[in-house]
Amino acid sequence: MTTVLVTGSNGQLGNELRRAVSLFPHFQFIFTDVEQLDITDAAAVTMFFESNTISAIINCAAYTAVDKAEEDEALCYRINCHAVEVLGAVALNYGAQMIHVSTDYVFDGKSYLPYCEDFPVAPASVYGKSKLAGELALMKVNPNAVIVRTSWLYSSFGNNFVKTMLKLGHERDELKVVFDQVGTPTYAADLAVALLRVLDAGATHSGIFHFSNEGVCSWYDFTIRIHQLAGITTCRVLPIESREYPAKTPRPHYSVLNKAKIKSVYGVQVPHWEDGLRRCILALSGK
Ligand SMILES: NC(=O)c1ccc[n+]([C@@H]2O[C@H](COP(=O)([O-])OP(=O)(O)OC[C@H]3O[C@@H](n4cnc5c(N)ncnc54)[C@H](OP(=O)(O)O)[C@@H]3O)[C@@H](O)[C@H]2O)c1
Repeated sequence: MTTVLVTGSNGQLGNELRRAVSLFPHFQFIFTDVEQLDITDAAAVTMFFESNTISAIINCAAYTAVDKAEEDEALCYRINCHAVEVLGAVALNYGAQMIHVSTDYVFDGKSYLPYCEDFPVAPASVYGKSKLAGELALMKVNPNAVIVRTSWLYSSFGNNFVKTMLKLGHERDELKVVFDQVGTPTYAADLAVALLRVLDAGATHSGIFHFSNEGVCSWYDFTIRIHQLAGITTCRVLPIESREYPAKTPRPHYSVLNKAKIKSVYGVQVPHWEDGLRRCILALSGK
């Protein structure tokens, strides 16, 4: 039986992988987060592989606080780059397949066409640079690794844009949201299934792949739909430009990923973002 180690499994994606296990009964899973396996501790990682028979690893552990990373560069790089390099080397050494998750933040966000995997990278933030460094380090030490970049990730677990907009929608009668940043939201449950499909297909094609949900919207459109699906009618959502809502770290204006490669190579199916959002809102309402 294939034993899959999931690192960082208390996060959004890790929790969705926990929920997806029943769809893949032929896999056995070991879920760990930093308390059970700190991926920055190289000796602990090696010891973990020595003590358990691991056939594959899905690395969901990451430093994801984009603004905080600007002041916390060393830790951000330790988790998003150096630890990924160690995981990749140990996985190769023990004959385990490795799937790693990366981000649209490796791009500068200035394109107007969906990003293909080979589009030139130009990260604008410490977080984006650390994730790119992690990709490069991993590909160098482990040529078998599969890297899946995603965008605008949300889930019924953890803190994210959907949960913030639901909370604010209930609390306020007016909300201003940017409409000049467009991208594709990704329900972490759909990404979890996509990663397991890649593994199920043997993860035989290494390198970089893109996965998000289908379609495109702005944060403003996303908020309108979140409120509609949750039945929030008492909050007026107003479109604003990014310059009216300055963020500490510049956000990409365009975050649409081209998913043709993962669809054709691994036969992964991609639900529309509104479909994913509907399922997430249902999950949040306990239905
Ligand atoms: N969120 C997004 O919008 C987005 C967009 C594109 C790509 N991604 C990528 O998608 C992946 C999954 O993201 P996510 O949103 O599920 O992240 P998340 O919710 O922040 O989860 C990351 C998990 O990793 C854990 N972790 C941190 N340091 C660790 C360490 N040293 N050892 C082991 N575990 C550690 C975290 O624990 P603590 O909470 O205790 O730190 C957390 O449980 C990441 O690679 C991320 O870069 C995310």
